[in-house]
Amino acid sequence: MTFEEYYGDMLPVLKQTEKDLLDIIKKLPVGNAPEDIEPIIYCKSRIKSPESITEKLRKNGLPTDSASALANMHDIMGIRVICSFVDDVYNVVNRLKEREEFDIITEKDYIARPKPNGYRSLHLILSVKEGAGKGLQAEIQVRTIATDFWAALEHQIKYKRNIHHENMIREELKRCADEIASVDMSMQTIRDIIREEN
Ligand code: GTP
Ligand code: MG
Repeated sequence: MTFEEYYGDMLPVLKQTEKDLLDIIKKLPVGNAPEDIEPIIYCKSRIKSPESITEKLRKNGLPTDSASALANMHDIMGIRVICSFVDDVYNVVNRLKEREEFDIITEKDYIARPKPNGYRSLHLILSVKEGAGKGLQAEIQVRTIATDFWAALEHQIKYKRNIHHENMIREELKRCADEIASVDMSMQTIRDIIREEN
């Protein structure tokens, strides 16, 4: 099924809202000085495919039509914001929370409290307050570029069946996640010291 067939009249609204959110995020006042390493390296966004959303609805025992998806799913619109430093992640999130255009429905801080597998990221679910997209929700994932690299690889094992040495791979990934977190902290500290000396 195509996106048009599934989402119908809501597809252009979803696309416009996705674009508006991206514009807001890209213009957030999170930069400090022109010589700074860019706080937001890039953003990625997607509207969840009909296959993926109907599968998720089915798993949750919910009707699989798009009205049900729009009413029950908070990640039809997904935006990933990739930052340089951990401080940038929190700056982005704090600036987002100040915006008048939407309400923050939930916040999950997997940086302060990593998942058992080592996953680190900050997730916001927000709800649009005004305009054509009023009531639409979006999931924003904010993380450092180093943890994004990790998450991409970790994500792959979710789709693989019968991985050889799966436990060993999971342990290694956990070790990498913790090392990456430690490197992220060191990078932050070094940046702060360099900044103070200027
Ligand atoms: P759903 O995953 O949407 O059912 O909701 P949830 O309540 O589990 O939300 P959570 O905020 O934990 O995860 C939302 C999204 O974050 C997921 O769909 C993934 O895109 C991403 N994510 C969460 N946990 C992991 C993880 O352990 N590894 C990776 N690679 N991505 C994750
Ligand atoms: Mg999940």
